[in-house]
Amino acid sequence: MKVSIIGTGYLGAVHAACMAELGHEVLGVDIDDAKIAALAEGKAPFYEPGLTDILVSNTKAGRLHFSTSLTEAARFAEMHFICVGTPQIPNSLSADLSSIETVIDELAPDLIRDCLVVGKSTVPVGTAQRLRTRLSSLTQANIRVGLAWNPEFLREGFAVQDTLRPDRLVVGVTSAEADAALRTAYAPLLEIGTPYIATDLATAELAKVAANAFLATKVSFINAMADVCEAAGADVVTLSDTLGLDKRIGRHFLYAGIGFGGGCLPKDIRAFAARAIELGVAGSARFLHEVDEINNARRWHAVNLSRDLIGGSFMDRNVAILGAAFKPNTDDVRESPALAVAAAIRSEGAVVRVHDPRAIDNARLEKPELEYCDDLDKVCEGVDVVLHLTEWSEYRNLDPAHLRSVVRGARLLDGRNVLPLARWRAAGWTVRSMGAAPA
Ligand code: UDX
Repeated sequence: MKVSIIGTGYLGAVHAACMAELGHEVLGVDIDDAKIAALAEGKAPFYEPGLTDILVSNTKAGRLHFSTSLTEAARFAEMHFICVGTPQIPNSLSADLSSIETVIDELAPDLIRDCLVVGKSTVPVGTAQRLRTRLSSLTQANIRVGLAWNPEFLREGFAVQDTLRPDRLVVGVTSAEADAALRTAYAPLLEIGTPYIATDLATAELAKVAANAFLATKVSFINAMADVCEAAGADVVTLSDTLGLDKRIGRHFLYAGIGFGGGCLPKDIRAFAARAIELGVAGSARFLHEVDEINNARRWHAVNLSRDLIGGSFMDRNVAILGAAFKPNTDDVRESPALAVAAAIRSEGAVVRVHDPRAIDNARLEKPELEYCDDLDKVCEGVDVVLHLTEWSEYRNLDPAHLRSVVRGARLLDGRNVLPLARWRAAGWTVRSMGAAPA
């Protein structure tokens, strides 16, 4: 099929490359000239394992092109995927839908053939129906233009894998024609047995926000248990292991620590709560406010535990932070708990040096007041405490005995509960974790 991908941010760049990988002719469109120029050369605008390979191979094969012209997309494609951002509105809980509305307004009058517009962006339930009306009022009377919703569940760091081998495909459609077109677009995925759920627009929209609300709730649940464990002298990691063995619960998303961040979970639960108020069911989403609160409190808890470790004050102390990305295998620092903790500690008078294998450039833009270094020894040199805040695999293999010879005070906070703490203790470190009483 000839498909356009409108918006080449995280979701769109990956979707464009993957649709080409599935054999379609793809045109990626964005208003950002620099991003389009980079993508056209096969360069991913962010770090995502496996993305560069399929960008390069599909560009070379002539299946993948990029442009800044929406008109070109309108003329080219029989299916248009909208992948633009829906960020949180500043000082509000709601999602900003202006980019998506602009795309509809600009694309619709230029459409010259029958086609399907497919929304992939995460939107509050009810948006698709509204956009459908808007789209049909703006398109020429002699063509048939449909609107469908096809939420995306990809995880950063596994985006290519999640798109080419998804757990499920969910499409919200209003006609058999739209359903058939989407089945054709995803035929290679259906052939490998990917579950495909065709439903109405509202259920498809909700499929995404409900999944993220559930995942956020699961993380905050185990983080609340972590607090109880600390108070009761229990151990949250063992608790997670036992809960995870119950097949009805599962071990995924039961990692207690400094909480969730990123470009999706925090904004999505807030937009969900805001939409629930509009729908008159505020009470049914009130728990999400609590989920958000528990999550934010984890950051402060990490600051408090670290301050306690060094005797009650950060003033003129040196602190090493391991990790800036909101999670490993990405260079994304949006709503990163690690950076929030680092900035809070600096504001209490410490000199804070941050290490991250991939995210330093983005972190520097976000928090220029912190010091950054990609050499672990230099980051830890002369510090009074080391905070492990993003669980990159390389941190698990650190040699605590060596690091002890580099730091000034051998104190460690494991904010992700994944380091081999017995080894660190054996090497002479005083260790605190988030979800167990001090050893
Ligand atoms: C999430 C959803 O998983 C994905 O389906 C959706 O499309 C976009 O939002 P992503 O933002 O890439 O994906 O990150 P995810 O892997 O879900 O992690 C979110 C946050 O939760 C991270 O900060 C992570 O560190 C944290 N987390 C996750 C925990 O603190 N504990 C866990 O057990 C799991």
